[in-house]
Amino acid sequence: MARRKKVYEGKAKILYEGPEPGTLVQYFKDDATAFNAEKTATIEGKGVLNNRLSEFFMNGLAQIGVPTHFIKRINMREQLIRSVEIIPLEIIVRNFAAGSLSTRLGLAEGTALPRPIVEFCFKDDGLGDPLVSEEHILAFGWATQQDLDDMIALSLRVNDFLSGVMLGVGIKLVDFKIEIGRIWENDFQRLVVADEISPDSCRLWDIETGQKLDKDVFRRDLGSLSDAYTEVARRLGVLPSNVTHTTKPTLIN
Ligand SMILES: Nc1ncnc2c1ncn2[C@@H]1O[C@H](COP(=O)(O)OP(=O)(O)OP(=O)(O)O)[C@@H](O)[C@H]1O
Ligand SMILES: [Mg+2]
Repeated sequence: MARRKKVYEGKAKILYEGPEPGTLVQYFKDDATAFNAEKTATIEGKGVLNNRLSEFFMNGLAQIGVPTHFIKRINMREQLIRSVEIIPLEIIVRNFAAGSLSTRLGLAEGTALPRPIVEFCFKDDGLGDPLVSEEHILAFGWATQQDLDDMIALSLRVNDFLSGVMLGVGIKLVDFKIEIGRIWENDFQRLVVADEISPDSCRLWDIETGQKLDKDVFRRDLGSLSDAYTEVARRLGVLPSNVTHTTKPTLIN
């Protein structure tokens, strides 16, 4: 195959030019980073699992009418996506207190929130992706009021979908982060869910035991990250049930 042009290399993924204008190929690496890349490691098989899991969630969202950038999975590590103009915000939805919210407000991790809370962080690694308010977003022109309303509605739909899917396999969706992009159709824009949805970008706790099945396993040195992700994939039926923690991920078609 001819070598493709690399468009961008991030911490967890690489973007290549796609086969058609307006498309990109998203390659999932095995690299794991935390605390704004202060902690790094290579986790064998992580990229394969996240490619599969993101495909699973994006397909599910499309089926309930939530637009996404996902077109199709190409192979173990790559998927074809629509190229979008990423809004420079990380949209975080929280159902239970954890992480920075617990620290900021002194809430015990796991405290149920009165309702899902949507937060925005400005996507800037140099600044550590700081929390910003709607005022900042509007004043600096990162998004319009209409975009904000649409982003909140979209992220709450994603929350309901992901919470339900996870509940069905005995997992509590504590919080997650998504990125949203604009697709231009003539003079009109549409907002779509972009980037990835995977255990790298969610907090997932086993409902019975509270065991963490997400990137906190890596952040907090709680054991094997690939075991945790394999368990999520196995429960969702993305991997065959005979895959155990001692084997590399085996894919089903
Ligand atoms: N459909 C899309 N079109 C264009 N860019 C996208 C799309 N989906 C995701 N991206 C961007 O591709 C990159 C994916 O790489 P990765 O997640 O490894 O980046 P990162 O290291 O987290 O850096 P950052 O998110 O700060 O750019 C991100 O910059 C993300 O915003
Ligand atoms: Mg990223």
